[in-house]
Amino acid sequence: MCGIVAAVAERNVVPVLIEGLKRLEYRGYDSAGLALLNPTLTRLRSVGRVAELETQAKDQVAHHGIAHTRWATHGVPSERNAHPHVSGDLAVVHNGIIENYAELKAELIAAGFGFTSDTDTEVIAHLIRRTLHEVPDLTAAVQTAVTRLTGAYAIAVIREWEDRIVVARHGAPLLLGVAADGVYAASDAAALLQVTRQMIYLEDGDVAELTRGGVKIVGAGGTPVERPGVESALSADAVELGSYAHYMQKEIFEQPQALAATLELIGGAQTLSPNLFGAAAPELFDGVEAVLILACGTSFHAGLVARYWIEQLAGIPVSVEIASEYRYRASVPNPRQLVVAISQSGETADTLASVRHARNQGMPRTLALCNVPESAIVRECALRFLTRAGPEIGVASTKAFTTQLAALFLLALTLAKQAGRLAPPEEALYLASLRHLPVAVQKVLALAPSIAAWAPRFADKQHAIFLGRGLHYPIALEGALKLKEISYIHAEGYPAGELKHGPLALVDKEMPVVSIAPNDALLEKLKSNLKEVAARGGEMYVFADADSSVTEESGVHVLRLPEHYGLLSPVLHVVPLQLLAYQVALVKGTDVDKPRNLAKSVTVE
Ligand code: F6R
Repeated sequence: MCGIVAAVAERNVVPVLIEGLKRLEYRGYDSAGLALLNPTLTRLRSVGRVAELETQAKDQVAHHGIAHTRWATHGVPSERNAHPHVSGDLAVVHNGIIENYAELKAELIAAGFGFTSDTDTEVIAHLIRRTLHEVPDLTAAVQTAVTRLTGAYAIAVIREWEDRIVVARHGAPLLLGVAADGVYAASDAAALLQVTRQMIYLEDGDVAELTRGGVKIVGAGGTPVERPGVESALSADAVELGSYAHYMQKEIFEQPQALAATLELIGGAQTLSPNLFGAAAPELFDGVEAVLILACGTSFHAGLVARYWIEQLAGIPVSVEIASEYRYRASVPNPRQLVVAISQSGETADTLASVRHARNQGMPRTLALCNVPESAIVRECALRFLTRAGPEIGVASTKAFTTQLAALFLLALTLAKQAGRLAPPEEALYLASLRHLPVAVQKVLALAPSIAAWAPRFADKQHAIFLGRGLHYPIALEGALKLKEISYIHAEGYPAGELKHGPLALVDKEMPVVSIAPNDALLEKLKSNLKEVAARGGEMYVFADADSSVTEESGVHVLRLPEHYGLLSPVLHVVPLQLLAYQVALVKGTDVDKPRNLAKSVTVE
């Protein structure tokens, strides 16, 4: 989603702004722009890639600048809608959505302000300039102006002849980077690692004034506040592509390390303690009688797998809700319910709002399961488990998903133990099985060449069906999501038993049907479902286990995963589906890491 970089420093900040924008490209965007002070404003904007903006900016030198990648919300992707937006002598970049923008716009038009874009951001620029008539100090004017905004925002503002940049945030990410030669701001630490590791995370409602000499922050209450500095643990290599062709490919192949790093959190323990989820976990897990999982997209699919695990192992009822639906539904709150928010980014607006909604409904037992340490969802929840997948740059989530599954399995074991349903030998066996996952995933990755050979047969198709049963039904959903988001082939995931209740009507020789066929209790039932497909001439692609009795025959192609993995089998079975989507996208020549219309971190509703 939109990305912000801002800099005030002794050095020429133009290369820092451009490099910062490149580091934020993965978030998804359609246009880019920057504004520099010299000491008057220069604004450059372009539709398309940051590289184009870089060419435009190559001869520019400045010590103050704000830059932006835009993911269109209000108004089409175009140069006139690209940020920064200017009002007189000031310029603004913005991430988020201003919900009362129409009302503010009408008010500003009545006051004589003219608009040149369709964005909600231009409203912020005019609002600040109008406020400056009564409150002449820029920082104070921003503080006053933002009190009129409803919605989510992170903004950065510069004004001609001013030796400062003013930033503010509410509901959208923004952090500061403090270096010896100046102060920087960005939506994401990855953009600032080029200049510093010393970060300050702003809180909702903060307004900060950045100068070459340092930072002054004013909190939501209007009084000066100190926010702690943190040294970013992010390694610069973690965001390098290295020898891979795409981030998605790199991230699929990094899954063994990502799982191993996440499982390091339990070390060599033979038994789990609730403290793994935070110091307050023993108290907050005590007496939990239900679990509510809130998430979106791929993280929602991880939650669906967790439902099977928690219900089977801990005997606790679980509901899994799409965050954007839950927050607007009149649900029945249960104060003894553990609310689990799953989010790779920790910034997904719907998931964040759903957790707040749950808490407002009287459910204070909240647990964040995230991949980004200082993210909003982590800070919102009473408990946390941080996966250690490392930065995920490809828009399509892969290693974040498998590490979420590992974390959710740990949660299921912990709740099972608390419920007195997990004997020590069984617990030790499950933990050993978890620790073997990195090796098991590595073996599955060896199937990549065989999967690549299947890919051309999908590339010319318009649709595909993914089938799974039980624990692997959510994996079918995830396989379909991966294929549609990066190859633009319409795909649907179904529980295989549901086929004859409707989707079978779609099956003909043009419809590839991908099936997940692990050697579990449902295999024989799944085989009957496959026969239903075969009888209609459908072409089947089956991911079986080494010992699944599914045989290759005309119209039935089979690839075998090296070992059967019991309850943890979904962690292995999703990997070939990620590879399949990746390979099909390669054949189709789509933009694998930045699929059209999508953003990595969905910070708007
Ligand atoms: C799909 C994908 C998205 C995200 C969803 C939630 O590959 O990445 O569906 O899973 O936008 O994002 P997070 O997990 O950051 O809350």
